[in-house]
Amino acid sequence: MNYKVQTLNNISKKALKALNEKYTVLDQPENPDAILLRSFKMHDMDIPDSVKFVGRAGAGVNNIPLEECSKKGIVVCNSPGANANAVKELVIAGMLMSSRKVVDGIEWAKTLADKGEDVPALVEKGKSTFAGPELYGKKLGVIGLGAIGVLVANMAVDFGMKVYGFDPFISIDNAWGLSRKVKRSVNKEAIFKNCDYITLHVPYMEETKDFVNADLLKDAKPGLRLLNFARGGLVNYDALEEAIEEGIVDTYVADFPNERLLKMKNVICIPHLGASTPESEENCADMAINSMKEYLENGNIINS
Ligand code: MLT
Repeated sequence: MNYKVQTLNNISKKALKALNEKYTVLDQPENPDAILLRSFKMHDMDIPDSVKFVGRAGAGVNNIPLEECSKKGIVVCNSPGANANAVKELVIAGMLMSSRKVVDGIEWAKTLADKGEDVPALVEKGKSTFAGPELYGKKLGVIGLGAIGVLVANMAVDFGMKVYGFDPFISIDNAWGLSRKVKRSVNKEAIFKNCDYITLHVPYMEETKDFVNADLLKDAKPGLRLLNFARGGLVNYDALEEAIEEGIVDTYVADFPNERLLKMKNVICIPHLGASTPESEENCADMAINSMKEYLENGNIINS
């Protein structure tokens, strides 16, 4: 049996190379048995009737028409946890950037250097302008305690932060591998009232659209640093803009802003880079490929 696999975007070439002679991988094969994709949006695509399996090399499945796949009897698997370490490292970088004004400092230094200013003098001048608080001893709320949230929470404990965890779907007791030093929070309101930093790690779906809204932000602890490397739709942008203007949110660090937010001084925006490390890309592809082989060859659904 030879299985035809369609790759829709950016699947690790190294992982694909490891497929054996039973598989033919193409960009546009006729009658593919399986589709492998990263964040390509499948909603507008005509899914060929031959497809039996869709493998998402990544965590979120909001780019896949799950209902349609389900009706057609197509098995969909993602790669839970495979990019968690990469995202964790970016979140920690985001917290440090928002605290220590790294981005403002770099921009300032570059602008002045471009103007021909004396660099050593410039270094001294920036010292007080860009001072910012340490993470040590501050309160961090981690919302969403899946693979990524747990790694972020544990890492923050190691940084000496007081960490509070909340998940809208699972009990904190079921957050596998979570440090015992992470305190349970009863709801998201408590996290927003008390925390200096909050990071979002919930999936984007009907139930989590505008998860961070005006009600939540108006009672948030003033000076909040909010990080969102999950999905843009989790935050209501109008409410966020207001909270930034009122000084409730000190900094928003994210990879899904809109144009208005992008121009705001208190917004640190980067491309969607959470999973963009060679290690994570390979891990995700390996996991999706493994699930595909297990299903096509043995009929097993493993999703891990
Ligand atoms: C994910 O859902 O895994 C992330 O959005 C990473 C990605 O696929 O780019």
